[in-house]
Amino acid sequence: MENPHSKISPTAKIAAYWKSLSDIPFSKEIAVALQAEQTARQSLGDNIATMTIFSPLILEARYKAIDAAIMKRGAQHIIELACGLSPRGLQLAAAGIEYIGTDLPDILAETGPVINSIGWRQELPMQRIHFQAANVLDKAQLENAAGYFQGKSFDICNEGLLMYLNASEKKIMAENIRALLAASGGCWITTDIMFPDIRKQLFAALTGSRKELYTSVLGNISEQVGRNITANDFEDEAAAIFFYEAAGFDIEKIPFYDGSYPLSTLHLVPAGVQEWALEILTQASTWILRPKQ
Ligand SMILES: C[S@@+](CC[C@H](N)C(=O)[O-])C[C@H]1O[C@@H](n2cnc3c(N)ncnc32)[C@H](O)[C@@H]1O
Repeated sequence: MENPHSKISPTAKIAAYWKSLSDIPFSKEIAVALQAEQTARQSLGDNIATMTIFSPLILEARYKAIDAAIMKRGAQHIIELACGLSPRGLQLAAAGIEYIGTDLPDILAETGPVINSIGWRQELPMQRIHFQAANVLDKAQLENAAGYFQGKSFDICNEGLLMYLNASEKKIMAENIRALLAASGGCWITTDIMFPDIRKQLFAALTGSRKELYTSVLGNISEQVGRNITANDFEDEAAAIFFYEAAGFDIEKIPFYDGSYPLSTLHLVPAGVQEWALEILTQASTWILRPKQ
């Protein structure tokens, strides 16, 4: 029996802290209001300075990759799973897109009201944003959240969750999403499936004390969430493709980073390795999964 998923929730604050160092709209307001930096400092300790070299860039690119896919699809209705402190609802609402943010109940009870109040203060069209607690492993809770869209076609997106789920949890999540999308006609946009490749390439290039530090941070986070993050990785991309095709999806891959949007945190990466870091992000993919007909 795995540890409860609620143990994963504090990682949303770490992700929010990295994003707050970028130009992602509303990311700073949300991170400050929810004290994301304090959680990141508690969790990472003195390692935070070294982690600040690559993590903000990777998280900024991940967030913007999902946005780019949403815009490419022209989606008008989006459900975000495991949204954490994501500013996406505010950003999409401002762009005229209707958004439902979902996550586990405790973290959502903390973040939803804060994000809503930032939106009201900024005079955004708040009728386009909804938050609804939903565990990705609970089909009825997901259907309940999708109920806001009253039968309109919607897409689903997520980032930063799959690395915490084991294979049987990934399978249930995929089945639930497939059932929702079969009814909605939309697709599932995720940067998570081969995200560990970015970590693996980074680790392969690190040497000496920096490699040890990154390895120990990964171990500490695994311990804090009660899940072995590296053990959840797919063996390789072929294994991931096999898994999601068997779960009933057609797969399209688009580059994670294609140079079409600026990465404001690139300056945190030492000049000598910036090009290498961008190359890793370019080789990674955002996956767009559609239920097979
Ligand atoms: C690393 S955070 C990512 C948050 C956000 N997507 C981001 O990238 O900033 C992982 C999130 O997964 C959520 N989570 C963990 N298990 C979940 C589950 N079974 N159902 C829904 N959300 C879950 C946590 O509460 C947390 O918000």
